[in-house]
Amino acid sequence: MIKPSETSVSLETLVSLCKRRGFVFPAADIYGGINGVYDFGPLGTLMKKNIRKAWLTSLENKWGSVVELEGSLLAPEAVWKASGHVEGFHDPMIDCKNCKHRYRADDTDLSKGCPHCGKNDWTEVRNFNMMFKTQLGALEGASSTCYLRPETAQAIFVNFKNVLSTCRVKVPFGIAQAGKSFRNEITPKQFLFRMREFEQMEIEWFCKPETSNDFLQQWIDHRLAFYKAIGISSEKIRVREHTKDELAHYAARCVDVEYLFPFGWKEIEGIAHRGAFDLTQHSNHSGKDLAVFDEETKESYMPHVVEASVGTDRLFLTLLYDSYFEDEVEGEKRIVLKIDPTIAPITAAFMPLVKKLSEPVEKLYHAAKRAGLSVQVDDSGASIGKRYRRQDEIGTPFCITYDFESEQDHCVTVRHRDTTKQERIAIEKLMDYLHSHLTKGTRNA
Ligand code: GAP
Repeated sequence: MIKPSETSVSLETLVSLCKRRGFVFPAADIYGGINGVYDFGPLGTLMKKNIRKAWLTSLENKWGSVVELEGSLLAPEAVWKASGHVEGFHDPMIDCKNCKHRYRADDTDLSKGCPHCGKNDWTEVRNFNMMFKTQLGALEGASSTCYLRPETAQAIFVNFKNVLSTCRVKVPFGIAQAGKSFRNEITPKQFLFRMREFEQMEIEWFCKPETSNDFLQQWIDHRLAFYKAIGISSEKIRVREHTKDELAHYAARCVDVEYLFPFGWKEIEGIAHRGAFDLTQHSNHSGKDLAVFDEETKESYMPHVVEASVGTDRLFLTLLYDSYFEDEVEGEKRIVLKIDPTIAPITAAFMPLVKKLSEPVEKLYHAAKRAGLSVQVDDSGASIGKRYRRQDEIGTPFCITYDFESEQDHCVTVRHRDTTKQERIAIEKLMDYLHSHLTKGTRNA
């Protein structure tokens, strides 16, 4: 068993790598940043796209179809009243009377005094609703009150009948959505772990009530297989069942998929049995019947929902923690991100041994682009070793060197990130070779 203290890399190291190499920047960086909000740079954007793609691919299953939705970020108050968020989506907040710092009461050891000034002089605990409230148009009032969504799920529930009546789906089926959510977290922390603006990837699986417990277990297994497939260390993943008093207002049962971060076991995905809670609430509040007619029993019923919800940014951070290694190659220290090839922002970096071989390398680069690969050229004058290490640090699984011999034997040297082993591959087979690693998705390629 690995202990948190043995999981090496510090958060500061990751934050600095992310900024230095264009993965993640603080939002509004030149104005000093904004707490709990981040921008994704060119490499971060590529990696996030790959995470989304892997997630969507992983949702395929043999039990029914999955369709996608892109819901609005804003929704009227009525939606959030029905969902229970206006009433219940809050965290307990407490202030230090001495230095005025504010904390989440359930996340701070109050008996030890204020983590900032050390005084033990607290206000009462108050509930703080985490939704960002705004208004549509110039007129203030109940009819114009809107909220930025704190989860993507509600857009799926309110569109349930729209999807059912317009697409060729029938229960059981899933509606999946990847998109932004917003929570005015009292204390955003640990970089991408707890943010105020973040992305979620959620699937709501609609099924007959009597099948919902079975589906819950099948989804738990299915989601664990996903983490394995994208190369996350199995010994750092576990499943934890919520106790009754932990359950969200909508959940009949919930399990967290947790990852062993250096700061402890923490949730990366929640898999919840939401029962008929949401569809019933929206039926009651909107006056629109969201029940489904069963052709076999000739009766209407409210489908049950199994939800699997993971934060894209939190998973991004997990992947960084899990893939960061420092080792030594030929007597030199290197930083390497051993990210699965399907997730790595750049699949291959093409390198002419010397500048005057740049032209054939450009051709290879364009051929790889046309073949749909994410590639880069590094034709800087730096030594090959240095160029390899630059690519290791951003997790590029393959470096491809074109040298003088390539002119004669029409082969290139492929150097593997994790093992640093090299092999000669015929140029005509190169694109298939790279693609095969993307479908295999093996770390240590
Ligand atoms: N629809 C269910 C739902 O939203 P949740 O447990 O509140 O459930 C699901 O959130 C996932 O979203 C979490 O497991 C986490 O990965 C991500 N998440 C939640 N709050 C987050 C935040 N403030 N910053 C980053 N990710 C967050």
